[in-house]
Parts: sequence; structure tokens; C-alpha cells
Amino acid sequence: MHLISLKDWTREDILSVVERSIDIKRFPDRYGDLMQGRSLALLFQKTSTRTRCAGEIGMTQLGGHSLFLDWGVTNFVLTDFQDEIRVLSDYVDVILARLLKHSDVIRAAEVSSVPVINGCCDRYHPTQILADLMTIQEKLGRVEGVKLTYVGIHNNVCNSLIAAGAKVGMEVTVVAPITNPAAVDDALFEEACRTGLCRTSTRLSEAIAESDVVYTDTWVDMEFFGNPEFESEKQRRIELMQPYQLNNTVMEGHNALVMHCLPAHRGYEISGELMHDPRSIVFEQSENRLYGMKGLVVQIMRET
Ligand code: CP
Ligand code: NVA
Repeated sequence: MHLISLKDWTREDILSVVERSIDIKRFPDRYGDLMQGRSLALLFQKTSTRTRCAGEIGMTQLGGHSLFLDWGVTNFVLTDFQDEIRVLSDYVDVILARLLKHSDVIRAAEVSSVPVINGCCDRYHPTQILADLMTIQEKLGRVEGVKLTYVGIHNNVCNSLIAAGAKVGMEVTVVAPITNPAAVDDALFEEACRTGLCRTSTRLSEAIAESDVVYTDTWVDMEFFGNPEFESEKQRRIELMQPYQLNNTVMEGHNALVMHCLPAHRGYEISGELMHDPRSIVFEQSENRLYGMKGLVVQIMRET
């Protein structure tokens, strides 16, 4: 069982990870030796704090072993990608891969003899959203029927929210004047809209007023952030997106919870003030990446 995108998972698979992650958080000792003798490889082509730490530390806490592979110091840089994945999968029990291109995540799963988990590509970020559903469940006592507005750039995180929402019955409103080209997934969007669980809006304040949760993410994905070739597009986005910043003004009079997958860019997609507002659950959300990852690894190993 791979996790390439939540599109491929059932409602039951998703909710089972959410429930298990909550149980692991409550009763960590019950899960302390489940992964004994098992190894998780983390193959990262991009930077990471949360996903990497959740994978490495989570695996240790489950009694297993993890191996971090920074793409740049492996022979992935000089030979056939699928040969290297095949070899890696002969050594370990599960691979958590943060790759630049979604097509490479698919190519990895094609040849891997063990499960491949997508640790965030240019199109989806499923491990993030599993932990986010856990956080919403903890905070609101449910995920079904929850109204979430995603504000910002339509990107990998937005796609995974849409995919998850359509499966678990969470309504996702997208207020996103720009879409990352790599994140265009018409089939996902149309299918989610057909279920009535996804819609777009240009009216931010109306959307926030109707929401239980308001969610934002970076205006520029990590691989482009310091890239000089992306600089003019970054500046264009900073100007165009300013009215879509989440701050105390747009949130005035509203009680919606505020979420952000982090890393955050204060003064851009979110104000520093709102990050620390009582409505903000960004740090609980971030902490839950650890339990979400543990729940996911346990589920994937059970199903394999
Ligand atoms: N949210 C998230 O995936 O964070 P990292 O990029 O630090 O892993
Ligand atoms: N959309 C962000 C998510 C970071 C976890 C990015 O890809 O950089």
C-alpha cells in the first residue's frame, strides 16, 4: 500500500489513520515496539523540518530505525532513478520520499518493492493533511461537515485538502487567485466539486464568516523560494496576494480556527500577530505531524 495521493485512498483508510494517530498520541507506550527490526528510508530532494523529524523520530518511537538520505549526497544524482529506488527498497521496509516532481513519486512506486509515502511533491502533500485532519478532529470533535476555507496559492497543500475533504465529508472553499502550474489537477477539482464538497470563491470575508477553519500556506513553494529565476514571479505574488493575507483585520469578529502547515512567512501569507492569536492552532498542528506520521507508518505496515 503506497501513499502517493489521498485521491487513491478510501474514506476508511484516511479515518483509520486519524483515529490511530490520536490513539498513539494518547497511549504512546502501546506502540513502542511495533516497528522493531523495521527500517524507514527518508529520501529528500527538498528541505524539511517537520516531515523529516516526524519520520525519523516517529520511527524511533515505534521501536524501528530510520535512515535519512539527502538526495545530493547519494548516487541518485548520477544514475538511473528507478534503479536506485529498486535497490533502496531491497534494504528497507518503507520509503518516505520528498521529491521535486510528482511524476517521480509515481515512478518510485512503480519499482519499489516496499510502500512509498509521498512526503510532499509539487502536486500533493498527503502526510500533512492526514495530521491536519487529526488536529481538526481533536479540536472540533469531527471532520465530517467541517467547513474549511483555504486562502492563498492553489498548491500541493490545497490539492490534498480538497482530496481529503471529498473523501471524509469536509467542505473545502478555495480562495486562491493563483494556481501553481504543477498543482493543476482538473480531474481532482471537478470530482470534488461534483460531490458538493469543494467550491471556489473570490469573497474572502464571506468565506471566512462561514468557516470553522481558515487555512493558509506559503505563496512560494520551498524549491522556488530562494531561486533567482523565480524572483520576479515571487514579487508579483507578494503584490497581488497582499489582500489575501490572514491577519487580525480579516479575522475580526470571526471565531474560525487558523491553520498553516508551516514553514510560515510572517508578514506575507499570515501576520505574526495572528500566528500567536488564541484562534491559531498552527503549533498544535505542527506537533501532530509526529503522531500523524506514526499512525500512517503503522497503518501502511499493517496493510502491506
Ligand atoms: N509542513 C511541512 O511539511 O514542513 P516541512 O517542510 O518542514 O517538512
Ligand atoms: N506548499 C509548501 C508546503 C510546505 C510544507 C511547499 O511546497 O513549499
